[in-house]
This record gives sequence, C-alpha cells and structure tokens, in this order.
Amino acid sequence: MNLSDITLDREGLAAAIACEDAAFEAALREEAYRVKVATVGPEVYLRGLIEISNICAKNCLYCGIRRDIRCQRYELSEDEVLAAARVAAERRFGSVVIQGGERTDAAFIRKITRLLKAIKSIDTRDDPPLGITLSLGEQSREVYEEWFDAGAHRYLLRIESSNPDLYRKIHPAGHSYDRRLQALHDLKEIGYQAGTGAMIGMPFQTAEDMADDLLFYKKFDAPMVGMGPYNPHPETPLTLSGASFPSAERRFALGLKMIALLRLLMPDINIAAATALEVLDPRGREKGLLSGANVIMPNITPEEQMVKYNLYDRKTQLRDCPSSLDILSSQKIVIGYGRWGDSKHFHRRLSWIKSLSLTS
Ligand code: 5AD
Ligand code: SF4
Repeated sequence: MNLSDITLDREGLAAAIACEDAAFEAALREEAYRVKVATVGPEVYLRGLIEISNICAKNCLYCGIRRDIRCQRYELSEDEVLAAARVAAERRFGSVVIQGGERTDAAFIRKITRLLKAIKSIDTRDDPPLGITLSLGEQSREVYEEWFDAGAHRYLLRIESSNPDLYRKIHPAGHSYDRRLQALHDLKEIGYQAGTGAMIGMPFQTAEDMADDLLFYKKFDAPMVGMGPYNPHPETPLTLSGASFPSAERRFALGLKMIALLRLLMPDINIAAATALEVLDPRGREKGLLSGANVIMPNITPEEQMVKYNLYDRKTQLRDCPSSLDILSSQKIVIGYGRWGDSKHFHRRLSWIKSLSLTS
C-alpha cells in the first residue's frame, strides 16, 4: 500500500490499519508528523499526571485496578496532590491531569472540588494559572458541573471501544455503553473540552473496529484524543480468558499508526502520546510525538503510590525526571512550557458557535 492509496473513510482506514508493510507505516508516520507541524506547530504540551487513587467502583475486564482485583489500594491526601501540582507549576508544565478510579461518593466529589479551587490559586509567576484536566470516569451531570465551576476545563473519558458489541465483551454486566456516551455528551454540553479515546490491539478487535474508533472521534468532534495500546494485566478476566490479541510489537506499531491516521483525519486536535506506548518501547512517547501526537503527560504522582497504579502489567515506568524531557528537546520536538496548550480545534469551534449566535 502507498500513502496516496489511503482514503479517510471506513474502508480506507481499515485497509491502512491492516497493512503491516513497514515502509508504508514509516511513510504514514512521517506524513502525519508533517501535517502536525503544519497545522498545530512543532510544540508538545505537557500535562503533569497526578494519579489520585487506585480505588475504583468499576470492574472493567481488562483493568489491573478493577474492583475485584486484590491489590494494595491508596488515595493521595489533599496535601500530596497539591504538592505534586506545585511541582508542575515550578517545572512550568502549564497543566495537570487528575486521574483516578471511578468513585461517586460525596466525600470524594467534595475533595476534588476543594482541590480544583486550591490548584487554581497556586502561584505560577508569569504563566497563566495551571490548566486542569480531570479523568475520573462517569459522574452525574451535576458533579461535572460542580467541577467545571470549580476550575476544571478539560475532561478525559475514553469510550474504550466505539463498537457497542466489543464494549460489552470487555465490560461486565452493569457497565453501559449508552451511559458512557451520555456522559461524554454531558461534558461537551457543559463546556468542557471533552477528550476521548480507545484501546488499540485488544482481543476481539478488528481493523474495522479501529477504523470506526477514528470515525467516532471525528463524529463526536473531539478536541482531544488519548488512545493507547492494550497491555494485558496477568490477573484480569480478559487475560485469563486466553483470548488472543496482537503481539507487543504489532500493538506498538498499531498505536503509532492510529495516532498518525487520526492526525490526517483531524489535523488540528490535541493527540496524546499515551503512557501505554512507553511500556512497549522505552522511547514510545517520543515516537508517538514523531507520528503526529502533540501532548504528553509526565507522571508526577509520588513514586510510592505510582507503582500501585497498575492498570496493566509493567506499568512501573519511573517518575519523569527533568532530563527525560531534555531528551525530547534534543529531538525535533519543542516543549511548550508554561502554556495550557488547548486544542486549536476547540477554539475554532467555539468562535464558530459564537459567530452563529451573534448573527442569529
Ligand atoms: N491496557 C491498556 N490500557 C488500559 N486501561 C485500563 N486497562 C488497560 C490495559 N490493560 C486504560 C483504559 C482507561 C485508562 C484509565 O486506562 O483505557 O480509560
Ligand atoms: Fe476503573 Fe477505569 Fe479501570 Fe474501569 S478502566 S476498572 S473504570 S480504573
């Protein structure tokens, strides 16, 4: 297959995803990098990742912190979260992501609200206040509103698979695809930059499913997408079922290829190079950036707890030290220090909506 053969419809995307020709894959990544630089520029934006807790009420069949897995649970204190956020401010990351298992108890919800207000008041000197992304699963619309009003402006909620049948296969009863879609629409309506994504290279997943995931992001008009390779966790039902899935090498190549294809399909959105890439290749995120991604999330969770946030096997990457970012700057990558790095797509859409309401 040649680059000129790609069409950005379901059939064309699925053919590009299924094609394992290394020369084709390399050409596609280069083209996506070129489109990224031409559209959103060479910068990579940083989001300091704070993994607030591995306690989760859900029981997703692929996840290493699912409710029924026996593992050591933790929850960061407010002081610990704030200390991490101050590190992000000092290192001029521009934004933080607060991610954790899904919890809907009132104490947790209020804690997040207090934290959002406190993070917003951290001194960032000449930079804007820290931007805040939340990734805390499905919540009621009221809770999303409370957090938005307290200062969160982006929310990541992966659809995991846009195919309702595959979604059902990788989740237990009681986890609803429609509920997840509703949550995504609530987030968008409230005014969040609502990001989504899916896992890549899962059991039962076809090239057409992955093509549909890309088309789902387009249809949802996602201003940001964070997708990454599936990595098995030894104790999850999905792994124990023995269902087959692509090799680590193939999942990595697929992860990069999905980033590249998405950059061609949605040139001006923010695309994250997920941590799951780094697990498969020590320079995974850098390769993601060179394939069209423009966001990374350096992990600033205190190390003692970080190792317990085991979504999948070998997620024991070390704390990102300043020198790991220096390595990036020695490549063709420019780090957008001290900036929110919101998606250009989101602001274009907003100004378009404003112009409609002005003229109507
Ligand atoms: N492999 C890759 N990603 C996973 N996640 C959970 N388990 C796995 C796994 N085994 C991802 C999900 C979820 C995010 C928090 O982690 O996509 O949205
Ligand atoms: Fe919980 Fe998310 Fe893991 Fe599902 S994927 S069990 S919601 S942390």
